[in-house]
Parts: sequence; C-alpha cells; structure tokens
Amino acid sequence: QQNLELPKPLSGKKALVSAGPTYEAIDPVRFIGNHSSGKMGYAIAKRLQELGAEVTLVSGPTALSTPQGVQRVDVTSAKQMLDACEHYFPEADITVMSAAVADYTPEEVAPQKIKKKEEHFSIPLTKTTDILATLGGSKKEDQLLIGFALETNNEIEHAKNKLQRKNLDFIVLNSMQDKGAGFAHDTNKVTVISRNGDIESFELKSKDEVATDICNLVIRELK
Ligand code: CTP
Ligand code: CA
Repeated sequence: QQNLELPKPLSGKKALVSAGPTYEAIDPVRFIGNHSSGKMGYAIAKRLQELGAEVTLVSGPTALSTPQGVQRVDVTSAKQMLDACEHYFPEADITVMSAAVADYTPEEVAPQKIKKKEEHFSIPLTKTTDILATLGGSKKEDQLLIGFALETNNEIEHAKNKLQRKNLDFIVLNSMQDKGAGFAHDTNKVTVISRNGDIESFELKSKDEVATDICNLVIRELK
C-alpha cells in the first residue's frame, strides 16, 4: 500500500513552545513553584508537530510524557528557561510561551537546609526576567510570538496591555470564570486577542481542542 501523505500546513516551520511551572530553589530541599501541569503547552507542542512543524518544547518539571516527534529540553528554574528560550528563539518561526514562569525567585539559595528557628520567617525575593517580553524585544518581522495571560479582573484590558508591552502577535487569555478551566484540568476556556485588536472567544473544551484552535490561528496568520 502506498503512503499518500497530505502536505502539512506547517511543514518547514520551526516552533518553540514553553510549558509547565518553574521551580525556584530556596535551599537544597525546597523551592517555590506553582500548580501548572504543563498540559496546555504539551498539547500545543503535539499539535504543532502533527501539523508538520519542527518543535522544541522547553519544559519545566511536569509529569507528562514527551509528544511523539517533539524535541524536549528540560529546565527547572526561570533563569534556565530564559537561557533555553533565548537559545532556540532566533530560529523559531512560531513561538508559544505557555509556561507558568515564577515572577520572583529567592535572592540567594541557602547552601544548607534552612533550620527552623524564629516564630516568623521570610525570604527576600527578586524579580525574574520576563522571558516573553525579552523574546518580544528581539522579535523579527517574520516571527510569530504568542503569549498567555491569567487574570482575575479587567481581563481583556490587562491582556491587551500584556500583548502590547511584550510585543506579541496573539495573547491567549485563560478564563478564570469556569470551573474545569486552567491549572491541572484537562479542559480550558480561552479568549484570544490579536495584535490588530480582534477578540475571539472559544467555548470550554479539551486542551487538545484549544491547541487546535490556537494552531488554526497560527496557520491563518502565516498565510
Ligand atoms: N512570562 C514569561 N516570563 C516571566 C513571567 C511570565 O515568559 N518571568 C510569560 C508567561 O509564559 C505568559 C505571559 O508571560 O505567556 C503572561 O504571564 P502572566 O503571569 O499572566 O503575566 P505577567 O507578565 O507575569 O504579569 P502578572 O503575573 O503580574 O499578571
Ligand atoms: Ca506572572
């Protein structure tokens, strides 16, 4: 039987996807993390690969297996994720930053396990570099850059600000309104805002289907 493969819409394109949380070390046994499962980013990486793109997935710590045919680069901290993304970004035609990057990291990592002493204790934190904004700052004309946003109030306005500030082509706003959407769930409800101001709201659906919706926007934009 002959293998009649259809031409794929993203053949010849390189894609970079970030996914999962970052872990910011406090001492040798503790870290600051978040509940991101990585499912959304992995679903996007999988879909981009199925559509013919050559995909690099920069992943924070997750329990997920690597999608078929995707090159996965494992990182732990926000700084490592920044370095990996800056390495692959210049070659990427399509970049989707879906990772839940820590906004703050401990100023210093204690060399030994911190012992409990006083009743109250705090850790000095310092801001991490905004990976998405950094990539946006060096983006070339023919590169597509897509970010995510999680907001609890004035969602559209905040997301539009992020889109502009980070020089994005699309921002995918995660709705907090729906149960079943977001962290650790298999479903998500998103609104996509594009650079030209178009707003498209999608139904609550599986993360695989959301990934397909996002990839369809990418294909439309590349035409
Ligand atoms: N992001 C990033 N690097 C960071 C922080 C965020 O690349 N250090 C990216 C995320 O991957 C996401 C987008 O920026 O695509 C928006 O993340 P979000 O947390 O919603 O926005 P922030 O800019 O961090 O602003 P805030 O948390 O204050 O709302
Ligand atoms: Ca943030």
